[in-house]
Amino acid sequence: MMPAALILGASGDIGQAISRRLAADGWSLYLHYFSHEQVIAALQSELQATYPQQDFLTLQADLSDLSQLNQITENIFSLDAVVFAAGVTAYGLLVDIPVAQIEALTRMHLVAPMALLTQLQSKLARSGSGRVVFIGSVYGGRGSAMEVPYSTVKGAQSAFVRAYSQEVASLGMTVNVVAPGAVATKMNQMFDADTMAAVQAEIPAARLATPQDISYYVTMLCQPEAAYMTGQTLYVTGGWRQ
Ligand SMILES: NC(=O)c1ccc[n+]([C@@H]2O[C@H](COP(=O)([O-])OP(=O)(O)OC[C@H]3O[C@@H](n4cnc5c(N)ncnc54)[C@H](OP(=O)(O)O)[C@@H]3O)[C@@H](O)[C@H]2O)c1
Repeated sequence: MMPAALILGASGDIGQAISRRLAADGWSLYLHYFSHEQVIAALQSELQATYPQQDFLTLQADLSDLSQLNQITENIFSLDAVVFAAGVTAYGLLVDIPVAQIEALTRMHLVAPMALLTQLQSKLARSGSGRVVFIGSVYGGRGSAMEVPYSTVKGAQSAFVRAYSQEVASLGMTVNVVAPGAVATKMNQMFDADTMAAVQAEIPAARLATPQDISYYVTMLCQPEAAYMTGQTLYVTGGWRQ
C-alpha cells in the first residue's frame, strides 16, 4: 500500500518543497494549510495531475487554536509520517512581545504537535515504521536575541523529540528535528536587503538555504530504511551558528 504523510504547513515554502519531494517518492499526502487556500489548492491539483495513482487531501486549521485540531485528526485514515513544517516567529525584544503572542507561539509549535500526536500515535504505530519530523531551527540550539520566544519553542521541539523518541522507539517510530539556519522563504521577507546581506555574509556556505536543501533531509528521515536514528536534531545550516 502507498505510504501516507500528514504535512502541517504544506502551504509554506518549506512545506511545499517537502510535499513535492514526498509525492515524487510515491507518498499520498494530507496537505494542511492555515490561511493560503489558493496556494494549497494549486499544490493539490499539481500533485494530483502529476501522480494520479496517489491521494492528495487538504485540511485547514489554525494550530494556535487547539479546538480546531479535530479538523485534522477526524480526516486522517492510515498514516505513516507526520511532518511539522508550520511556524511563525515573533520578532522583537522579549519585553515588547505581548504574552498572548507568546502563548499562541507555544500552542502552535509545541502544544498542538503534542496534542496531535496523542491522537495520531496509534495510527503511526500501526504503520510499523512511523516517522515524525519537526522543522526546528538553529535558534533552538544557539538562541537568538530579538527572537527569544521563537528560540525557546524551537529548542523545546528538540527536547520533545529527545524524550518522545524513547517512548515510541519500540513501536518502530522515529522522531527527529531538521533544524535549518536561514532559508530563503517568505518568513524572511520582513527583513530588508541589507539585513539579509549581513546574514548571508555570516554563512560559511555563502548563501541562504533553499527549501529543497531542507526537504532533502526530511524525506530521507521519512524512509522506512531510516529506522535507527531517532531523537536527533540535524542542523542544516551551511555551517552557520551551529
Ligand atoms: N525560513 C527560515 O529561515 C526558517 C529557518 C529555520 C526554521 N524555519 C521553520 O520552518 C518552518 C516553515 O517555515 P517557512 O520558512 O516555510 O515559512 P512560510 O513559508 O511562512 O510557511 C509558514 C507555514 O506555517 C503555516 N502557519 C502560519 N500560521 C499558522 C497557524 N496559526 N496555524 C497553522 N499553520 C500556520 C502557514 O500556513 P498558511 O500559509 O496557509 O497561512 C505556512 O504553511 C517553520 O516552522 C519555521 O519556523 C524557517
